[in-house]
Amino acid sequence: MIKLTGRDFLKLLDFTSEEIEGLVDYAAELKAKKKAGISHRLCEGKNIALIFEKTSTRTRCSFEVAAYDLGMGVTYLDPKASQIGKKESIADTARVLSSMYDGIEYRGHGQEIVETLAKYSDVPVWNGLTNEFHPTQIIADLLTIREQFGTLKGINFVYMGDARYNMGNSLMVGCAKMGMNFTACCPKKYFPAKELIEECEEVAKATGATLRFEENPDIAVKDADVIYTDVWVSMGEPIEVWEERINDLSPYQVNSALMKKTGKESTVFMHCLPAYHDLKTEVGAEMGEKFNRDAMEVTDEVFESAQSIVFREAENRMHSIKAVIAATLL
Ligand code: CP
Ligand code: NVA
Repeated sequence: MIKLTGRDFLKLLDFTSEEIEGLVDYAAELKAKKKAGISHRLCEGKNIALIFEKTSTRTRCSFEVAAYDLGMGVTYLDPKASQIGKKESIADTARVLSSMYDGIEYRGHGQEIVETLAKYSDVPVWNGLTNEFHPTQIIADLLTIREQFGTLKGINFVYMGDARYNMGNSLMVGCAKMGMNFTACCPKKYFPAKELIEECEEVAKATGATLRFEENPDIAVKDADVIYTDVWVSMGEPIEVWEERINDLSPYQVNSALMKKTGKESTVFMHCLPAYHDLKTEVGAEMGEKFNRDAMEVTDEVFESAQSIVFREAENRMHSIKAVIAATLL
């Protein structure tokens, strides 16, 4: 197993390619143990705190189940329940929680908040999503891709949609680190920030990865092994941006016609979830009716197709988060 004892897990750029691969290996090992019913209470007696300033299904449940499987206690602090930000600074919170807990997960807004939490905390801090990065999601995505294709190096990975937010950024870093061929496909204004691209290009030089930024979906998806997308409007963004996003990103929707343009039957569809693939959600229904659409970033047809591996990807969140917790706590 990989040992990252005492390290924070804030963004993938802080880790070497070998360390990231080690986490993917460890997640696979823990997944196999769980499937075989082999007990792995490796962190018996430890306790962790989960701070969520934004809502969650997968990440929260993954941290909780992972903690229970590892023999740990968990405290969940929801977006309204704690004093954080309102009556107590993040630095004070860090010092209080790290005196009681063995690890702290944080989901919230700016990356600088989780970085501050880590700075003032004596125990490992795990990023459960910020506006800029979502690193635990990427470990799960890499595991899922490797399960599917048997390798990561050389995989043609295409991200459709808003590539300058947490998912686009983190996937670009993950692909660069693992020697994959990353394409972001969207209008120019949605490309990741120049500084982050430059940093990833440096990484890519060492790993053999390639990075491409392409506005034309037909060109972008040719030969793609993985087509990935995320919501067009992320948590914490104002409702007013929906109209602009729909106008800008509709040509980048993942639909059956686009999936066919890869020229490969083996292409898979991935999404971090939750997804607006139908009108069966409050926001999906409201925006669908307002803008006369039956889906947003992905059609229901693709989402429900045999090419879609989104639910295995979601399951892998738990195994990956367990690997991150155990690697940093043991
Ligand atoms: N993919 C993901 O992070 O999902 P949740 O928002 O449900 O945690
Ligand atoms: N970009 C999305 C990812 C959710 C897992 C958001 O931040 O809402």
